[in-house]
Amino acid sequence: MSGHIIVADDGPIRSLRINRPEKKNALTAEMYSALAAAIDDANKNPALRCIVIGGVAGAFTAGNDIEEFRRAATDSGGLPRPSQVFLLALARNAKPLVAAVQGVAVGIGTTMLLHCDHVVAGTDARFATPFARLGILPEAASSMIAPRLMGHTRAFALLVMGRSLDAAEAKACGLANTVVAPGDVDAEAAKVAAEIAALPPDSVAIARRLMRGSVDEIVARIEEEARYFRERLASPEAHAAFEAFLNRKR
Ligand code: COA
Repeated sequence: MSGHIIVADDGPIRSLRINRPEKKNALTAEMYSALAAAIDDANKNPALRCIVIGGVAGAFTAGNDIEEFRRAATDSGGLPRPSQVFLLALARNAKPLVAAVQGVAVGIGTTMLLHCDHVVAGTDARFATPFARLGILPEAASSMIAPRLMGHTRAFALLVMGRSLDAAEAKACGLANTVVAPGDVDAEAAKVAAEIAALPPDSVAIARRLMRGSVDEIVARIEEEARYFRERLASPEAHAAFEAFLNRKR
């Protein structure tokens, strides 16, 4: 288990905390594997009725670790496999998923929210998917789910133009439910999770499945995106963008 992912069960609620504050919670292969394993395991446990995913003060996650993107691009031209495993675990997850977002939510930090059922955002939350600027592409089936959620033009501004959203804007476009003070995000998410966990679990599960639509369709889109993503990851544009971030002068 990755030391950067803290898994804790409290009665019917499993919480997954991304905890790599020194790198703004950027996600490594090891962290994706730990998240995927904790989600899959929760799905096998009928006593667990809700999963909460959160980060640390100032950072939900800064997205995929760019050093690992660079390595994946030069080593094999492939996406780090565990990120794909995590995305598939999210797509197949059948338990209600609540997100507690403080601070930065970049790349997969935003797209994973499209697989959540309730999102609590701090007033300091900032959602951004600078995929095109990095020479890469939207993932997590965001190319399909985001336009359905917020309409094509808003999804295009977010996913392609890389325009970020603050917490109020995220709420206005349906990405977040509630905006609270950063220090209240975890407590509010715990309250929501307890509310969901108190409902009859089979009714929740069936309603959720019907509302989320076809898992096969979501999985197929994740796989289609990943094929293009792999090509783009090996592109000169992506390579230059990763180098620019990793060698930036501050
Ligand atoms: N991958 C690897 N390292 C990352 C990272 C990422 N995605 N995001 C942040 N870090 C590291 C920084 O390199 C820095 O490390 P260092 O102290 O060893 O130099 C540390 O985390 C703190 O980040 P910093 O940039 O100083 O924090 P900030 O508050 O000024 O900015 C962000 C925060 C998230 C806006 C900025 O770090 C950023 O743009 N990160 C990249 C996000 C991204 O493009 N992700 C991929 C999306 S597909």
